[in-house]
Amino acid sequence: MDREEIICNCMEITHGEIVDAIKSHRLQTVVEIGDATEAGTVCGSCQDDIALILKTVNV
Ligand code: FES
Repeated sequence: MDREEIICNCMEITHGEIVDAIKSHRLQTVVEIGDATEAGTVCGSCQDDIALILKTVNV
């Protein structure tokens, strides 16, 4: 997946920003990613994609 790809359209959060947040803060859940980046905190339609990214990142 492209790091520049927008995952959360509401907050314009990219794949790379989500991966970096997961790695640097050792995030475990979609809610924690929302707290850290605001991704997934508006309409929620990107939360499945965020959950998928969470699974692909080994912390
Ligand atoms: S697209 Fe992420 S909260 Fe709406």
